[in-house]
Amino acid sequence: PALVPVPPGALVVLIGPAGSGKSTTAASLAAPEAVAGRDEMRHRIAGDPNDQGATAEAGIAQHLILRGRLRRQLAAVADSTNLDPAARAALLDLARPFTPHLLAVLHRVPVTTCLRRAATRERQVPPEVIREQALRARPLTLPGLRAEGWSAAYLAGPPGALLQPA
Ligand code: CTP
Ligand code: MG
Repeated sequence: PALVPVPPGALVVLIGPAGSGKSTTAASLAAPEAVAGRDEMRHRIAGDPNDQGATAEAGIAQHLILRGRLRRQLAAVADSTNLDPAARAALLDLARPFTPHLLAVLHRVPVTTCLRRAATRERQVPPEVIREQALRARPLTLPGLRAEGWSAAYLAGPPGALLQPA
C-alpha cells in the first residue's frame, strides 16, 4: 500500500469508534492546533468530555475552528467519531467552498482492541458505547465513503501514515 501525505489546506475527517486510534492519527498527521475534536470541545466548554449537554455547543465550536482554518488554506482535522452520515455530510459542506482536498480516514480496528485500549485509559468510555459505535462503523468501506463525496478515502495505517490500498 502507498503512504499518502496530507495536502496543504486539506480537511481530514477521522472516522472510527472510541479507542480506534483517531487522536493518535491526528497527532501524527497535523500540528495540534489543526485538530478539533468534539470531546475536547465538550471538555473546554463544560469541564467534562462526556457531558452530552454540551454536544451542540461543542459541535459549533468544532465547526468554527475547522472552517476558520480551511478558509485560510490551513489544514484542519476533525477528530470525532464521525460515524453518523449526517456528521460527515456537514463536514463536507463546511469544507467544500475552501478546498478540493476532502479526506476521509477510516479506522478499522477490531472491537476487542478498542475495548482493551479504552479500559486502560484515563477517560473511560463504557464498553456498550464502544460496541454500539463498532456496529455503526462496520458497514463503512472506502468505496462507500468516496460515494459520499470525499475526494479520497484512506485506511489509518501505523502512526503517521495513511494507507491507500493497492
Ligand atoms: N493506540 C495504540 N496503537 C495505535 C493507536 C492507538 O496503542 N496504533 C493507543 C493510544 O496510545 C491510546 C489508545 O490506543 O492509549 C486509544 O487511542 P486514541 O488515539 O486515543 O483513540 P481515539 O479513537 O482517539 O479514541 P476516542 O474516540 O475515545 O478519543
Ligand atoms: Mg480521541
